[in-house]
Amino acid sequence: FFPPTPTNEPVRSYAPGTPERVSLQKRLQELKHTPVEIKPIIGGRELATTRTETLHPPHELAHTLGTVHLGGPEEAQQAIEAALKARQDWARMPWTERAAIFLKAAELLSGPWRDTLNAATMLGQSKNVHQAEIDAACELADFFRFNVYFMARIYQDQPLNASGVWNRMEYRPLEGFVFAVTPFNFTSIQGNLPTAPALMGNTVVWKPATTAVYSAYFLYKLLEAAGLPPGVINMVPGHGPDVGDTVFASPHLAGLHFTGSTDTFRRMWRTIGQNIDRYHTYPRIVGETGGKDFIVAHASADPEAVATAIVRGSFEYQGQKCSAASRVYLPQSLWPRIRSALLDQLSEVKMGTVEDFTNFINAVIDKKAFDKIVSYIEEAKQNPNVKVLFGGRYTDAEGYFIEPTVLEVADPKHRTMCEEIFGPVVSVYVYPDARFEETLELVNTTSPYALTGSIFAQDRQAILLATERLTDAAGNFYINDKPTGAIVAQQPFGGARASGTNDKAGSYLNLLRWVSPRAIKETF
Ligand code: SER
Repeated sequence: FFPPTPTNEPVRSYAPGTPERVSLQKRLQELKHTPVEIKPIIGGRELATTRTETLHPPHELAHTLGTVHLGGPEEAQQAIEAALKARQDWARMPWTERAAIFLKAAELLSGPWRDTLNAATMLGQSKNVHQAEIDAACELADFFRFNVYFMARIYQDQPLNASGVWNRMEYRPLEGFVFAVTPFNFTSIQGNLPTAPALMGNTVVWKPATTAVYSAYFLYKLLEAAGLPPGVINMVPGHGPDVGDTVFASPHLAGLHFTGSTDTFRRMWRTIGQNIDRYHTYPRIVGETGGKDFIVAHASADPEAVATAIVRGSFEYQGQKCSAASRVYLPQSLWPRIRSALLDQLSEVKMGTVEDFTNFINAVIDKKAFDKIVSYIEEAKQNPNVKVLFGGRYTDAEGYFIEPTVLEVADPKHRTMCEEIFGPVVSVYVYPDARFEETLELVNTTSPYALTGSIFAQDRQAILLATERLTDAAGNFYINDKPTGAIVAQQPFGGARASGTNDKAGSYLNLLRWVSPRAIKETF
């Protein structure tokens, strides 16, 4: 038996006048004006706590979307117990039954739930309609469908047999529970991190980012509607260590599935290291962390294509993608044409709320992010070796708005070329054409990260040279395309160095981390 071969969920345009646009706009208003009360969901039950925070769209701080009850050590402990209790029945369930739940979730998501997840992502995380669609609708449905397909492939992989012997591999879930810690920037990642281990028969404690708990709540409701049994995924919103310290101290921690900052991941890894003697089994650690993603153009590149890649790669979702381009290396001979195309395209870009579908730029996620990004912009304005070519203005009067900002740096090792800013700021370094090889060396050594990167060139030798010299500089390497927008099963996603464990979301490699196989030999 093999499940149907999936195809990627088609992206809707939401063009003016289309029924899909009307329907989404209606749902957006309904959600916006129906406040929710989000509580930890443990063993399928919603449990109120005494610590609450109100939720606001990052682009409209005066509006309230609802309240979140934050979990702490007590809820974390309850979630662990609920996960362990649910584990036996869930692990014993035939994999086809588990698969059916996630295939149904994908069907609901591409149908009646699509508007809800898109609207929640737009309101809660300030994503424009197109960024929400590729994330909360398409990529999330793709994860559900393709993970089922990858799971089936894994289960079919069986050992050789000798005469009189039947060898087989039993792909057991891990012994214990998995802790999924998810980021604000992709609803699809919020969905994939708890469900990939769950699909393989694990039960999960899930801590969504407090800044994205609004869409996390609707995501949980979608899974519930698809038939996910209580206790398989236990959602505990909360601030990092309030939940994490209890989870990491549990002897039953069997895995960590994380996407977020490099610092947080390292802190978690250290905590796991300190607790290593407590655990029944070595926890699987899978993390996707920061990036300082690059675009490098050769003199043979198409200038228009490079400019478009910078605008889309650096500024879609306000640069808050771990894959976003934030350092760009351009040849002197092409710079005037690229600069003029870049400034032309940026002058067309509109900034504002998500309710106006023509806005390309919306708000950054919260005050902390706003302050950090602004500090880089202010420092650049003071620095005589940095030119602000575009943007540089910001306001947090109504929401956390920052203009798309292009800096030109004289020093290729300036801090905006090395440090992760995670906002709508890109730095450009212009190199003499003859120094292409040295520039590749700079790209490779300037930052500790290795997530995504792009080479733009028509000259095949230049493409070959860049592909070779940048072997370890990016887990996802793009030739003549922007470094964002990996598609499930087409471009398995993840990086190494300070960017993560490179366990490739959107491929069977990730799902392999959530099994603890048993090899059985039977002699006749
Ligand atoms: N997978 C996303 C991208 O490729 C980032 O998380 O842009």
